Amino acid sequence: MDYVKEVENYVMDRIKWHKETADDHFDFWNEHIKYVYTEAIKLAEKYNADSEIVKIGALLHDIALINKVGTKVDHHINGAKIAAEVLTKLQYPHNRIQRVVGCVYNHRSSKNATNIDELCVADGDILAHFDNIPMLFDIMFNVRGMQLAEGREEMKKYIEKDYNDLSDRTKKVFKDRYEVIKDVLIAK
Ligand SMILES: [Fe+2]
Ligand SMILES: [Fe+2]
Repeated sequence: MDYVKEVENYVMDRIKWHKETADDHFDFWNEHIKYVYTEAIKLAEKYNADSEIVKIGALLHDIALINKVGTKVDHHINGAKIAAEVLTKLQYPHNRIQRVVGCVYNHRSSKNATNIDELCVADGDILAHFDNIPMLFDIMFNVRGMQLAEGREEMKKYIEKDYNDLSDRTKKVFKDRYEVIKDVLIAK
């Protein structure tokens, strides 16, 4: 069975449901998950991680938010439970379920990652923000309704925090691009 495809179908279906039912009609695939998926795969190749575990982990890492289960604060915990249920239903091998569950549970900071697969998902989650800079503007000026000066400061803090949350090895890989983004985005 193509487990990645099965999980992708499940996640796409849930994202469609979320988009239809959420107040803000947020499109999780186009605004976030597709970027995490692509970045995590690139890292998995670079770091020799298990690409199937990383792909499934990236697809499922925010599933609790997509399914609107619990709060943002505990979405890694609820997400881990949902991931285990989904993969059990698909009869994914038990030891590999545990590895995906680890990716979901520990995705919120690269500092939490206990192995290279988890690190790829956690770093991919951060790099996804840099792939979608327009969303940053949306958060500051639409969602949070900030004025220009405040929004500029918050954006600066946001991207600096994201960069600092990356693992040391991904920081090195990403540094040049980060400097360009910072240079273009943030007025001196
Ligand atoms: Fe998350
Ligand atoms: Fe995420």
